[in-house]
Amino acid sequence: MPLQELFTHLPNVGHQTLFVLDFGSQYTQLIARRLRELKIYTEILPFHTSPEELRDRQAAGLILSGGPMSVGDDLAPRCQSGIFDLGVPVLGICYGMQLMTDMLGGVVEPAKEKEFGHAIVNLEAGSSLFENLADELRVWASHGDRIAKMPEGFHSIGMSVNAPIAAMEDQNRQFYGLLFHPEVVHTEQGSDILGHFASNICKCEGDWTMASFLHDAIIKIREQVGDGRVVCGLSGGVDSTVAALLISRAIGKQLTCIFVDNGLLRQDEARQIEDRFTRGELDLEILFENASERFLSELTGVLDPEEKRKRIGRTFIDVFEDVATRHGSYDFLAQGTLYPDVIESVSVIGPSAPIKSHHNVGGLPDRLNFELIEPLRALFKDEVRRLGEELGLDELFVWRQPFPGPGLAVRILGEVTEARLHILRETDAIVAQEIRRSGWYRRLWQSFAVLLPIQTVGVMGDERTYEHVIAIRAVESLDGMTADWARLPEELLAVTSSRIVNEVRGVNRVVYDISSKPPSTIEWE
Ligand code: XMP
Repeated sequence: MPLQELFTHLPNVGHQTLFVLDFGSQYTQLIARRLRELKIYTEILPFHTSPEELRDRQAAGLILSGGPMSVGDDLAPRCQSGIFDLGVPVLGICYGMQLMTDMLGGVVEPAKEKEFGHAIVNLEAGSSLFENLADELRVWASHGDRIAKMPEGFHSIGMSVNAPIAAMEDQNRQFYGLLFHPEVVHTEQGSDILGHFASNICKCEGDWTMASFLHDAIIKIREQVGDGRVVCGLSGGVDSTVAALLISRAIGKQLTCIFVDNGLLRQDEARQIEDRFTRGELDLEILFENASERFLSELTGVLDPEEKRKRIGRTFIDVFEDVATRHGSYDFLAQGTLYPDVIESVSVIGPSAPIKSHHNVGGLPDRLNFELIEPLRALFKDEVRRLGEELGLDELFVWRQPFPGPGLAVRILGEVTEARLHILRETDAIVAQEIRRSGWYRRLWQSFAVLLPIQTVGVMGDERTYEHVIAIRAVESLDGMTADWARLPEELLAVTSSRIVNEVRGVNRVVYDISSKPPSTIEWE
C-alpha cells in the first residue's frame, strides 16, 4: 500500500483534526497521545506532506515535531514551505521550531551550551499559549542548536539560562515555537501548553471521545462493507477481540471469526479462549482450528528469529486461507492493527524506523485477495482498551498484558520444540501467578519468562546439574514503543525464582533482565 494511503485512511469523520508532521523525534507519538487525552483528534503525517493534502483534510492546526538532526545538516528533513501559507496555526517543537525559524527567515546556530534534560524556562505573561501557567516551568529540553535571530513578526515569550529564546510567537500569523518538549511528562504543565494551542489558538472543541469514535467507526464499517462478508482472525488478545466486536456491532452476522491455535500459546490458553468465545456472551460466530502440529513442524530446526517470524506468518496465512475457503467466500479481511504498527511500518525517518517485521501489517492481504478492514488503525493501545470497555468487554480481559502474535516462539531463543515449549509454559505460568499475586500485574506493560539457548552448571542435592536458564522480563511502558525495566520487589523476585527452580524440571538458574527499550527491545527473540 502506498505510504500516503497508509497514513490517510483513518476514520476522523467530522472531527476537528490537528496534524503532527513527523521529523523523526522519539517523542512524536507522545504529542498525538497528549492531545488525544484532551479529546482533540490528532494524526501523525510524514514531514513532507503537501499543503494541498492538509487543506483537503481541513487541518485545524499543525505541529512540527522535534527531530534528531540540525537544520543546517545536508540531509535535514524540511517541510514544504506552502504549509506556512495555509492560514492555520503552527506550533514548532524543538527541531520544528528551529526549522520554522530557518524557513521563515530567522537564524539558527549551534549553541555553546547545549541543553539536554531538565531546564528552567521563565515565561512572559500575555501569550495565549501560556494562559494561567506558572511564571517559571521546569521543562524537558534536548537540543544543541539555538535561535540566534527570530523571523520577522516573532517575539520571545520564554527564556532559559542557556536559551535566551526558549519560546516565541507571532500572534498575527499564529505561529508558535517551543525549544523544549511539552509532550514529555517531565515538562511541568506541558499538557496544558498543548491544550492551549489546541483550544485557544486552533479553536478545537475537544469533541473526540471513545463514544464518538465508536459511532463514527460503525458508520464507516457499514459504508465500506455494504452487504459483503468479512472474515477476522482472532488471537484471543485484546486488539483482535475489540476489532471483531466493533465490526460485529456494525454488521452482525456478516462477520465470521477464525481462531487458529498455533501451538505457541501459554499454558491452558487455547482452551480458555475457546471457552470464552463459545460461552456465547460475545455473540460472535467463530471457527476454531488446531494447527499446532503444522506450526511446530515448520519451526523444526529453525534458529534465526526473523526466519521463525516469517515461517509463522506464512503458516498462519496458509491455515487461515484453508479454513476461510472451506467455509465459504469472503470479501473483506479484518485485522486488529494499531496506530503504532502503522507508524512503525512506514516511518519515514528517525528512531521509529522498522526494527523487525510485525506480521499484522503487510503480507496478508496481497495473497489473500481480500480488501482490508482495520478499524483500530488510528488508535493507541490504551485507546483500544477504552473502546473495549465501551463495547462492554469486562475490565479484567481488557487490561490483559499484550502477547505477541508469534507467541512463545519469540520467547524461546533457539529451536522451538515441544519439550522447550513445555518448560517455558510451566515457567511462564509461575511468573504470571506471582506477578498477579503481588498486585503488580496492572502496573506492568508486560511480564513474562524467556528460555535461553544455553545450559549452565548447578547443584541440586549432591548432584551436579547442567540445565536451562530462564530470564524474567518485566517492563513498564505506555505503548510498547519505549519501556523501562520494572523495579520489582526483591521478595517477589526471590519467590518467583525459587518456585521456578524447584517446580520446573530442566531449569536450574533464573536471571532478571535490567535493560530498557531503547537500546534493548521488550521481547528477546
Ligand atoms: P519489542 O520486542 O519490539 O516489542 O520491544 C514491542 C511490543 O510489541 C510486541 N510484539 C509483537 N506483537 N506481533 C505482535 O502482535 C509481533 O510479531 C510482535 N513482536 C513484538 C511485544 O510483545 C511488545 O509488547
